[in-house]
Amino acid sequence: MKNFLIGVGVVFGILFVFMLLTVGVVSAANKPKGDKEEVLPGKKGNSKKALIIYHPGISKFTTRMTHQLAKGLNEGGYEVTLNHPGDHLSTDLSGYTLVVFGSPTYAGQISSAMRKYMARACPQIANTLTMGIVLFSTGALDEIQEFDKLEEMLVGLNVVKKVKFLAGSKTENDKTAYDLGIELVKE
Ligand SMILES: Cc1cc2nc3c(=O)[nH]c(=O)nc-3n(C[C@H](O)[C@H](O)[C@H](O)COP(=O)(O)O)c2cc1C
Repeated sequence: MKNFLIGVGVVFGILFVFMLLTVGVVSAANKPKGDKEEVLPGKKGNSKKALIIYHPGISKFTTRMTHQLAKGLNEGGYEVTLNHPGDHLSTDLSGYTLVVFGSPTYAGQISSAMRKYMARACPQIANTLTMGIVLFSTGALDEIQEFDKLEEMLVGLNVVKKVKFLAGSKTENDKTAYDLGIELVKE
């Protein structure tokens, strides 16, 4: 009996430590990652402008998909600005024809840094129907509940695409993200 109780205690102890670690990882991963603006200049002086706001994840998958998408948009003719969500980033997005929000999924949600930024920026772009909005998430699960949770925030926005990149073949995902960029230029 004594050994059984020790065993149960050890199992609960391990589960508790695992839970603490997971909470720690998710909370660190969700934090804003600061100002990291990059600009891919357009080929013409009057190129249309796209802004990609992305939250970099723990590994490099989200960042990789972001840059492939940016490459497609840029090669299609857009001037593309990339940056992370956060207080440093203006919520005046009026100069952009296309705005992309991209984030990893943690426990069925996009990052809290992205949600906070979107809560500030989205009401300002609501009813700007000349601006296309694209949402993308990355993750391990083939379900997109993370977008459903944003519905209230998206009211009045011209959402042209919602995409989830599933961690898998790198080459295949690279092509899908690049092709999405090219496709968005044509819309
Ligand atoms: C703690 C934790 C929770 C996660 N929860 C989900 C989830 O709910 N849905 C999902 O599709 N992927 C989930 N994932 C997988 C991540 O979304 C995936 O690792 C991420 O997209 C990889 O991007 P990155 O390389 O930019 O970090 C989770 C990953 C971690 C570490």
